[in-house]
Amino acid sequence: MKKLNLVVLASGGGTNLQAIIDSIEAGKLDAKIKAVISNNSKSGALERARSHNITDIHLSHKQFATPEEFNQKLISVLKENETDLVVLAGYMKMISPTVIREYKNRMINIHPALLPSFGGKGMYGIHVHEAVIESGVKVTGVTVHVVDEVYDHGPILFQKCVPVSSSDTPESLQQKVLPHEHEAYFRVIQLFAEGKIEIKDNRAFIRE
Ligand code: GRF
Repeated sequence: MKKLNLVVLASGGGTNLQAIIDSIEAGKLDAKIKAVISNNSKSGALERARSHNITDIHLSHKQFATPEEFNQKLISVLKENETDLVVLAGYMKMISPTVIREYKNRMINIHPALLPSFGGKGMYGIHVHEAVIESGVKVTGVTVHVVDEVYDHGPILFQKCVPVSSSDTPESLQQKVLPHEHEAYFRVIQLFAEGKIEIKDNRAFIRE
């Protein structure tokens, strides 16, 4: 089977990236990470890429005169790498509609809550878990979804519930949810590798 070519975009520590690398190395994911791109030159994600001999690319809006030039550069890097699937793993920057359209239904994101709740503007990192605690909900979780032009929107591919207990803090919840993200993301990517995902009318269908 041809391996699925991935390009991972990440801004932070990169534990989700690491989980993908580990699943590939363990033979559980039929994919190849062609490159890791980060807006943050000091990100743990780029370091993790380097230590696994994966091409690491620092690409920031700040390196370009206009947003359009940045978008064109990003698209050209994705094309050069023959990218089948763009994987957002803690990427903190908005992806422009120009890039999203080019990779329609071939770009996915992971979110540390159950969308469509606790998503959208300002809902990233610890802020998501703060909002979950403040709301008093008793379950949170993980969502993997296709990226469309609306932030944290797009067809949902996978969800997993994680209970919220009375003693939880935003930080404890983040620590509780993270391992479920690691477990989920590579499985969803493997479904793409197996050609089992079909997107129709804004819904994702998974063939058995
Ligand atoms: C994860 O919680 C992910 O859901 C969110 O950002 C965090 C990234 O963590 N989008 P890491 O950099 O993969 O450790």
